[in-house]
Amino acid sequence: MENFTTLILAAGLGKRMKSKHPKVVHKVCGKPMIKWVVDSAIDAGTESIYIVVGHGADEVKSVFTNDVKFIFQEKQLGTGHAVMISKDVLKGKNNVMVLTGDTPLITSNTLKSFYNYHIQNNNSVTILSSIFDDPSGYGRILRDGDGNVIKIVEDKDATDDIKKIKEINSAMYIFNIDYLEKAIDKINNNNAQGEYYLTDTVEIINDMGGKIGAFSATSEEIQGVNSRVQLAEADKTMRIRINKRLMDDGVTIIDPYNTYISPDVTIGMDTVIYPGSYIEGKTFIGEDCKIGPNTRIIDSKIGDNCNIVYSMITDSVLENNIKMGPFAQIRPQSVIHDNAKLGNFIEIKKSIIGEGTKVPHLTYIGDAEVGKHVNMGCGSIIVNYDGKRKYKTVIGDDVFVGCNVNLISPVKINNNAFIAAGSTITDEVPDGALAIARSRQVNKEGWVKERKEKGGL
Ligand code: UD1
Ligand code: CA
Repeated sequence: MENFTTLILAAGLGKRMKSKHPKVVHKVCGKPMIKWVVDSAIDAGTESIYIVVGHGADEVKSVFTNDVKFIFQEKQLGTGHAVMISKDVLKGKNNVMVLTGDTPLITSNTLKSFYNYHIQNNNSVTILSSIFDDPSGYGRILRDGDGNVIKIVEDKDATDDIKKIKEINSAMYIFNIDYLEKAIDKINNNNAQGEYYLTDTVEIINDMGGKIGAFSATSEEIQGVNSRVQLAEADKTMRIRINKRLMDDGVTIIDPYNTYISPDVTIGMDTVIYPGSYIEGKTFIGEDCKIGPNTRIIDSKIGDNCNIVYSMITDSVLENNIKMGPFAQIRPQSVIHDNAKLGNFIEIKKSIIGEGTKVPHLTYIGDAEVGKHVNMGCGSIIVNYDGKRKYKTVIGDDVFVGCNVNLISPVKINNNAFIAAGSTITDEVPDGALAIARSRQVNKEGWVKERKEKGGL
C-alpha cells in the first residue's frame, strides 16, 4: 500500500474555549486533544506528520517529544491559507491526509478505511463526511443530479436551500498532492468571512476534471470540540470507549460513567474498579485487585490481589496482596513489598516498606527504609525534616515500633528491636534491644485531694 503524509491544522485560538491556552492542548481523558489526533494518524499508518501551529505555538509543540514536525502560520487567514504555506513539505509525495487538531474522537480504524477508500477509488480528493440532524455551522456537501460531489459551501455563504442539506464536511480530507498543489493556488478570499477556504479546492478540482469522493463517518467521531461543554462531551465519549475496552478485556467497572481511566492504563483480569476512581498516566494494575471507591492512582504499578480503598498513590510501586486505606496516601518514589498492610490516615513518601510490614494507622513515613514484618504503631512518625534538610532512617526486619514514637532522622533501628510507646529516638537501637526514650512516670499519692483543700482545683 502506498503511504501518506498527514497535515493537521491547529493554528486557531479556539475563542469559544475562553482559555489562556490554545484549544488543542486541552485534555480529553488526560491526553491533549491534538495528541489523540496524532496518535490516530500514526496508528492508521501515516509516514509523517506536520502540524500547522499559530496561536500558542510553543504550548502546542510542548505536547510532543518527537514524531511530528511543525509549520508556523503567523496569521490565520483561513484553512486554505494554512495548506498553502505547507506546500513545500508536501512536494514529491503522493497523498496527504488533512485533519484538524480539535477532533479527538476520530479513530485510526476510520482513518484507515478512509484512506483505503481514497486509494481504491483513485480519487483526486476524498472528503470525510457525515449526516447531521442539525448541520448548522458546518460546510455542506453539494452533489449533482448523478450524486457526484461537486463542491462544498460554507454555512455562512449558503443559501436557504443549501442550508437544508444535512451532509456535512468534517474538515478532514485526503488529497492527491498533484491536484491539491494546482487547486490551492487558485483559491481566493472573496467570501462571507474574507478567508482562504480549503473547501474551495473541491470545486476547483472538479473543474480540473479530478475525481471527488466522500467517505461517511459517524457523527460521534467527527464531532469537533469548540467549547468547554463540547470538551466535557468528548471526554465522556472517550471515557466510555476506554472503559468498554477494559471491560472487554475482563475488568469489572461498576459504573463506567463515573470511573476515569486514562488511555495508557493497563488493568488485569478480574480486577474490580469501584466508582469515583481516577487511574491516570502510565499506570499498570494486576489481576484480582479491588480499587476504590474514590481512589486516585497516577503513574504507578500495582501488583495482583491488592485492595485499595479511598486512597491516593503517585509514581510508586505496590507489589502483591497489599491492603491499603481508607484514606491513605503514597507519594512518589515509594515501593511497597508483598503482603504489606497500609491502614487509614497514613502517609508514605519516598520510602521502601518491607514484605508483610504493617502500618495500620496515623503514621508518617518519609525518606525511610522499613524492613520486613515490622509493626509501625499508631501515631508513629519518622521525623525526616529539620526545617532545612531531609534525612534518611533505616528500620531493620521484625522491629516493633510502639505507638506515638518519633524516630528522629537520620537514625538506624536494627533487626528485632522494640521501641517503647511514646519514645523519641535519636540514637541507633541495637539488634534485639528495647529502647525507651521518655521520662519515667511519677505518681503523687493524694495530690488531687490536697490541691482541692487548698482551693487550687
Ligand atoms: C471548517 C470547514 C467546514 C467544516 C468545519 C468542520 C473550511 C473553510 N470550513 O470550518 O466546511 O464543516 O470545519 O468543523 O475549512 N485553522 C488554521 N489556520 C487558519 C484557519 C484555521 O490552522 O488560518 C485551523 C483551526 O485551528 C481549526 C481548523 O483549521 O483546527 C478549522 O478551522 P475553523 O476556522 O474552525 O473552520 P470552521 O469554520 O470550523
Ligand atoms: Ca471548527
